[in-house]
Amino acid sequence: IYVPVIAIDGPSGSGKGTIAHRVASRLGFHVLDSGALYRLLGAAAKRHAVSIENEAALEVLAAHLDVQFTVDAQGEAVILLEGEDVSREIRTEEAGRVASQVAVLPKVRNALLARQQAFREAPGLVADGRDMGTVVFPNADLKIFLTASAEARAERRYKQLLEKGFGASLAALIDDIRARDTRDTERSIAPLKPADGALVLDSTDLGIDAVVQRVFDEAKKAP
Ligand code: C5P
Repeated sequence: IYVPVIAIDGPSGSGKGTIAHRVASRLGFHVLDSGALYRLLGAAAKRHAVSIENEAALEVLAAHLDVQFTVDAQGEAVILLEGEDVSREIRTEEAGRVASQVAVLPKVRNALLARQQAFREAPGLVADGRDMGTVVFPNADLKIFLTASAEARAERRYKQLLEKGFGASLAALIDDIRARDTRDTERSIAPLKPADGALVLDSTDLGIDAVVQRVFDEAKKAP
């Protein structure tokens, strides 16, 4: 049977994760949070004392990454790395920074490719990341490129971090988001850019509900 894929790409803080989950739950589809895999690899490197510059060792770690995506009794997503709950650890700004550093390495990206594609299971998949529509699922049925201004994205991250009980500085977050954007868009392998045929949506003023509705409407139209 044919398994449809909706690819949602965009910079950090554009709302991809939230949109992906909402669209997936409306359609009853699976979700791939590809950024989590890069974050998990960073966490695994730390645990095994592997330098984030050691591409060969990171490639091996990536190929053997022992992760499980589960839910707890309250229905909250729980991510296990080698059996240990790292859901919180991988969400810090530091983890995001390390993720974007290991993500520039071609062998790492290649080692994670098949693992990401394996998430494509019936009845369908909503995949979120930077290269879902360009590299991982180039034949996706629907491709969305979600953007928002750096300031709007930093403010969202700021609120999220405070809600989760992390301390944060808005100015530092804006700098961090800009630095991460530069690294993600200027790297030579799988740079962040809209896929051919992607629908570009700007969530700065649209709001999450409007974006979800828009994606849902497009999904209904997709062949
Ligand atoms: O989406 P998230 O912020 O969790 O991703 C963390 C980092 O992982 C990104 O800044 C990016 O460098 C990298 N990433 C990537 N390709 C993806 C998803 C994430 O390079 N498909």
